[in-house]
Amino acid sequence: MTSVENQMGPRVVVALDYPEAKQALDFVGRIDPTQCRLKVGKELFTLAGPQLVETLVAKGFDVFLDLKFHDIPNTVANACRAASKLGVWMMNIHALGGRRMMEAAREAVETSGSRRPHLIAVTILTSHSEEELGEIGLSGSPAENVVRLANLAQSAGVDGVVCSAQESSVLRAELGNDFMLVTPGIRPASAAVNDQKRIMTPEDAIAAGSSYLVIGRPITAAEDPAGVLLTINSAIGAI
Ligand code: C5P
Repeated sequence: MTSVENQMGPRVVVALDYPEAKQALDFVGRIDPTQCRLKVGKELFTLAGPQLVETLVAKGFDVFLDLKFHDIPNTVANACRAASKLGVWMMNIHALGGRRMMEAAREAVETSGSRRPHLIAVTILTSHSEEELGEIGLSGSPAENVVRLANLAQSAGVDGVVCSAQESSVLRAELGNDFMLVTPGIRPASAAVNDQKRIMTPEDAIAAGSSYLVIGRPITAAEDPAGVLLTINSAIGAI
């Protein structure tokens, strides 16, 4: 392990995008919490609920609960408090919920008692085009909106943002070294691209300033997930 990995723990967050808990747990049985963290999103959480999250935490995994809360400040704060009680390592909210919502969420995770989870914000969904942003009243390019909302999130006390690795170097320069950049759309050079459009290799993403890499199918669909993880971790460690 490199000194960076020693400080931060595993940088790879495996997206557990499975339609049922059993498949997710079968996969988890083949990997090790020293090599990666896990992301549970809306599909799996809606199906398998808090019990699955607690099971993953009990197995020693850090869990990123990717539910992208967006509601009135009081409701989001209560949802963040509930997620904290599950023992998750990271959770997220939409920056478009505004400053007061983000501040309420931050206060909720800070006063949640147990280990304080990281709170990160989604800025602009990568599925949105400039035209679609215009339709919902946001002028400017997606990239301009990402920088503006990431600054707002930082000033509201949020710990970081989800962003494309293509945006990492700009955001790292803009927001400093203490802000977490969590980036999906990562593909090892040898892996299938699937439906991702703007991809980056793990080593390039880390070099661009990403803090954590969200990677799904290149690991979950691999014959030897632990082997793929080892290869990615040593590629990152080689930087
Ligand atoms: O399998 P793959 O590596 O493409 O999975 C990426 C994960 O990151 C999925 O859970 C996907 O929903 C999520 N994600 C993404 N792009 C974003 C935000 C989240 O791919 N802009």
